[in-house]
Amino acid sequence: MRPEFVSIDAVVFDAYGTLFDTASAARRHAAHLGERWASLAQIWRDKQLQYTWLRGLSGQWADFWTVTSEALDFAMDSLSLADPDLRADLMRAYLTPDAFPDVADALQHLHQSGKRLGILSNGSSTMLDGAVQHAGLGAMLSAVLSVDTVQTFKPHPKVYQLAVDAFELPAQRILFVSSNGWDAWSAKAFGFRVAWCNRIGQTRERLPGRPDQTIPGLASLPSLLG
Ligand code: LAC
Repeated sequence: MRPEFVSIDAVVFDAYGTLFDTASAARRHAAHLGERWASLAQIWRDKQLQYTWLRGLSGQWADFWTVTSEALDFAMDSLSLADPDLRADLMRAYLTPDAFPDVADALQHLHQSGKRLGILSNGSSTMLDGAVQHAGLGAMLSAVLSVDTVQTFKPHPKVYQLAVDAFELPAQRILFVSSNGWDAWSAKAFGFRVAWCNRIGQTRERLPGRPDQTIPGLASLPSLLG
């Protein structure tokens, strides 16, 4: 086991991009959209994140469902897509995103080894409940934590504190796992142990904090923890 992970009691995952594939909603419409599905997915996700940061900074919180729908409107406008049925379908699909193929096995292994597991996400409670249920992960999770209760977004420390409070553990006994580089760096600066799940070969961030480990997917996580 890695020395930095010896005293880990709980593993807490980011949701979107880490457990759930944010591109899956647009990909379901690939036949109809052609090559534009990938641009739509990318612009939608980028704008969704930007809006969380901007709303967080300006103190104009709205839940992730609202932010996600506003970001979708921006993305569809950018690509000159005016199709209310498609819009409604894409939003509905965000309630049942595809889990990445390595998720169920990794969580099962960690759960069986006695780790307590959770999700800590910008997602609204309704969105997270839908995604967890769709992926069949509920029985393995001790906590599904939404920013709804603190009404701001990552990387505000109040959000990371939700996991400390829910698990009643000091931050350094929690391993936080995120594929979003900025989230992984910020979680490390907060005080968690961190594994950056770098699924798509992203460039490392230049932000305070540096993850303890970089992993290419979740399959290697159980062996890191022994
Ligand atoms: C989340 C976003 C950051 O799930 O993906 O919190």
